[in-house]
Amino acid sequence: MSITMTLMQGAYIIAGLLFILALAGLSKHETAPNGNKFGIVGMTIALIVTVYAAVAGIDVAPLGKSVGDRAGTGMVGLGLIAGAMAVGAAIGIWRARRVEMTGMPELIALLHSFVGIAAVLVGWNSSYETAEYPAIHDVEVFVGVFIGAVTFTGSIVAYLKLSAKIKSAPLVLPARHWMNLGAIAAFFVMTVIYTLTPHENVMLRQSLLGATTVIALLLGWHLVASIGGGDMPVVVSMLNSYSGWAAAAAGFLLDNDLLIITGALVGSSGAFLSYIMCRAMNRSFISVIAGGFGVESGTSAGDVDYGEHREINAEGAAALLTEARSVVITPGYGMATAQAQYAVAELTRKLRERGIDVRFGIHPVAGRLPGHMNVLLAEAKVPYDIVLEMDEINDDLAATDVVLVIGANDTVNPAAMDDPGSPIAGMPVLRVWEAKDVIVFKRSMATGYAGVQNPLFFKENSQMLFGDAKARVEDILAAL
Ligand code: TAP
Repeated sequence: MSITMTLMQGAYIIAGLLFILALAGLSKHETAPNGNKFGIVGMTIALIVTVYAAVAGIDVAPLGKSVGDRAGTGMVGLGLIAGAMAVGAAIGIWRARRVEMTGMPELIALLHSFVGIAAVLVGWNSSYETAEYPAIHDVEVFVGVFIGAVTFTGSIVAYLKLSAKIKSAPLVLPARHWMNLGAIAAFFVMTVIYTLTPHENVMLRQSLLGATTVIALLLGWHLVASIGGGDMPVVVSMLNSYSGWAAAAAGFLLDNDLLIITGALVGSSGAFLSYIMCRAMNRSFISVIAGGFGVESGTSAGDVDYGEHREINAEGAAALLTEARSVVITPGYGMATAQAQYAVAELTRKLRERGIDVRFGIHPVAGRLPGHMNVLLAEAKVPYDIVLEMDEINDDLAATDVVLVIGANDTVNPAAMDDPGSPIAGMPVLRVWEAKDVIVFKRSMATGYAGVQNPLFFKENSQMLFGDAKARVEDILAAL
């Protein structure tokens, strides 16, 4: 083995370790910036080595595996790769700079679809290889194309649902679970026939691969279309996981260890995140990944007459806050759209200066991204130690004087606990109504993401403070 090859393998191992450190770092607020840096350095090393390997014609093959000769792409290849990377980087930078924090889930869903389609293309490309290879290669082609195609259309549907280009209500086709099962069975049968078909029978092999691609594209579309709006957070992290497995499958086809390691890290961490989110939302992991298997969609129309709501103005809210000893703030998607986090941080600082105990209660799916609220509050420099998870704060709410619900709706909806027919039934929520007083910041009586009315707004101890959340918090600051 040449020195260059050894160095390149070493670089891949270092990049792999950096990715593991990146994931470990991202698991806590305090270490997240370092986690990001590890990820960036790891990816830079991976890119440099991979491009060099392609240009010089070196296969960075697994340790101990014999490496065949391969022509490098040379300077022409380098030019083409650099050109493609420049176009990709320009589009990436342009989109990332323009995207609003609230648009991140859509962007992420779209990026997952790119990983999916890349795996499909790598699979098809590998199917044209003429060299002698073992039967397992055929299985890798099928698995890569299948996972890639499911990820591709699933992510497109997720993108359309999250950006409200199509309705987020679940699509309920008759015999939908049988269709899903049939698609998976057809995939297994076709994989076996493909593997047993001699390479000379190009027509049959290509038809089988084509049929599998179409079935997987339809399955991905159907799996995500049949999941309701309230479960979209799990879908996004599940697609993240699929995109990791698709990349790992492409890694097997390209004989690239680093792609296998990275794909497996993304796949397993995404699967674990989906599992944690399912637990937080009291959903069955299996039922969500199987397109809502075993779950009947909510039947409650939510148009019950809850009576009259009460309103409060900024001065009234300021007066309530001044008299309070303990305040809990539960932010939601509306705080993100209003970009109210800086005003909220300022309000927190002022209240704490007056000796009032202020804490935050964060629902695991508040906003539109895992950790969305934590990111916004960290950006506005709210101290980490007063930002608590839902489970840490829920039992303290009954002893709280004032709860400020800033642009949250579904995550503070008592119907999740009281109405078994509600589309969000069973989802644990922040029990803000147990506090002495609740002030709800929103612009109207409109429903939240899941489209269900919120009885909290009509409770005796709740008052609505209408208007843009940032403007209203600033009004309170002025009145304090
Ligand atoms: P939502 O239920 O989405 O409600 C947000 C509320 O904010 C709306 O009712 C809206 O009412 C209000 N709002 C919007 N803009 C505002 C502004 N400028 N000023 C003041 N209020 C504003 O929020 P949530 O409680 O955070 O719940 C999140 C929902 O999203 C859940 O159903 C969850 O399942 C879903 N979801 C979450 C994720 C992740 S991973 N977190 C991903 C996808 C979906 P008005 O229009 O009346 O102002």
